[in-house]
Amino acid sequence: MSDVSSPPSFTLNNGARLPGIGFGTWKAAPGTVGEAVRTALRVGYRHIDCAAVYQNEQEVGQALQQALPQLGLQRRDLFITSKLWNTCHHPQRVREACEQTLRDLQCDYLDLYLVHWPFAWPFTGLPIRVDNWRPSHKDGTLAFAHDVSLQDTWRAMESLVDAGLVRSIGVSNYGLAELHDLMSYARIPPAVNQIECYPLHAQHEHKAEAERLGLHIEAYAPLGSGASPVLQLPEVQAIATRHQATAAQVCLAWNLQRGCTVLPKSVQPDRIAQNFEAHRLRLDASEMQQLDALDRALVACDMREYWQYPMPEPCTLPRFVTETL
Ligand code: A2P
Repeated sequence: MSDVSSPPSFTLNNGARLPGIGFGTWKAAPGTVGEAVRTALRVGYRHIDCAAVYQNEQEVGQALQQALPQLGLQRRDLFITSKLWNTCHHPQRVREACEQTLRDLQCDYLDLYLVHWPFAWPFTGLPIRVDNWRPSHKDGTLAFAHDVSLQDTWRAMESLVDAGLVRSIGVSNYGLAELHDLMSYARIPPAVNQIECYPLHAQHEHKAEAERLGLHIEAYAPLGSGASPVLQLPEVQAIATRHQATAAQVCLAWNLQRGCTVLPKSVQPDRIAQNFEAHRLRLDASEMQQLDALDRALVACDMREYWQYPMPEPCTLPRFVTETL
């Protein structure tokens, strides 16, 4: 593997520096996430991506408390992100939700706080738990909070910056329509949109427009989330072989080189380390073009499992494409 030694970082629209490889904590079960976070910090990650709805922030917080002194690190050496869950969009709940996350993570500020999805559900209590994360009607369909607008929520997010609880704010899973709308009313413009992004779902158009608006793209599921055939594709494998790298590293290097932060997830120590080392891989222009051309808008994180269709309007979800390769 060619060696580009220092891990990349990006500058956000407010001047904050964001380490380009973050450790994703979604789906890491309680009991495993703490160890995974300690491993990640040990091998060099300085950016941890969390969310209240992952229901594991307490364990992440304990891991941070243990690992920082052991590794000679301070809180300011880390970049910690969390996300506002859909049930806490009401302006009166936004600060409560953020404070719950801060308590769980044992931090006195977040580097970045994101609106997790562009829709609001009724408040069902804090902390977010397995029995309250998804408010539904008696027939099982989702309940929406139609009295809360995204603009109301954004105002409350801006207040968190004013209060010093969070340094940067942004969004996740926003489509371009919501981004344009947000730009029309934001006093503090969003710094990032965190979206699914990997070679089979490259989001070229979205990325170009979001960047034109001043947002940085953070790629979740950068390896296809275990559900996608991306790591087996001959094109990806051939590039990996040429560089004596792995298919996962090729996917991560591609996103980094096109200017996106990557948030790979793993609970396996060798993979956690391998994914971090992806920053050493340098792809040439023709390899980047080959990978760019793989886009099939193939969604890896099929949220239907979570939202349980049919869903009432209004909601905006990523485009679900049933196309197979
Ligand atoms: P595991 O936790 O067993 O390593 P994504 O980051 O795109 O959401 O993908 C996460 C999935 O990819 C998990 O199932 C994870 O499994 C797997 N994974 C993580 N790193 C690698 C890797 N380097 N090679 C292959 N699979 C990986």
